[in-house]
Amino acid sequence: MIVCIPDVLSPEKTKEFRRELDAADWEDGKSTAGHMAAKAKDNVQIPATHPAARLVGEGIMRALTINPTFMSAAIPLHFLPPMFNRYSGGQTYGTHIDSAIRQIPGTGHRIRTDLSCTLFFSEPDEYDGGELVIEDTYGSKSVKLPAGHMVLYPATSLHRVTPVTRGSRLCSFFWVQSMIRSDEQRSVLFDLDLAIQRLTANLPDNNHANQSAVQLTGVYHNLLRQWADL
Ligand code: NI
Repeated sequence: MIVCIPDVLSPEKTKEFRRELDAADWEDGKSTAGHMAAKAKDNVQIPATHPAARLVGEGIMRALTINPTFMSAAIPLHFLPPMFNRYSGGQTYGTHIDSAIRQIPGTGHRIRTDLSCTLFFSEPDEYDGGELVIEDTYGSKSVKLPAGHMVLYPATSLHRVTPVTRGSRLCSFFWVQSMIRSDEQRSVLFDLDLAIQRLTANLPDNNHANQSAVQLTGVYHNLLRQWADL
């Protein structure tokens, strides 16, 4: 399941964070890639310990925990703190798969990467190329979103970033361990949750549809109870 989430950050917050990131020190992105992925990776990143990475990363986390679409689609358990990358001058990241297990920097804690997230900080008209291409079971999907918007996709998918041939593409990327390991089960829960929300949006009290909505909410929670790992 690939989910695009609009307006994770407001235009004002996006611009404020972009200024912080533009002023940071950047380093070669190979430093955080696994052996195979490093061969395909050509970009620059902000070190995880940089104050700008911490400040903006915390802002992204705050925005996500109050975003109903993200919470419903990801059912998050643990996060890897957001990182930041930039591509320009033909830089690219060839087809690769993200490492399954990653250690949270500065801690002994490891997470399983169930979901990969990319939050855009550059507007699409600022650069050419730079599409995130995700291989899905239904074929490949090319993603290039407005600044402040985010895409969430299964970390099990092969993906790449096409060469940036004009301008520069600045994004945040990070991973989530979900309470629901299986992408298929997560998709079922997301669909069910969306359907219940639509059903209940305009219901008067005390009618039959309302009782059905309560019953469906029970089904949602009972599936979650069966499938969740905490
Ligand atoms: Ni990747």
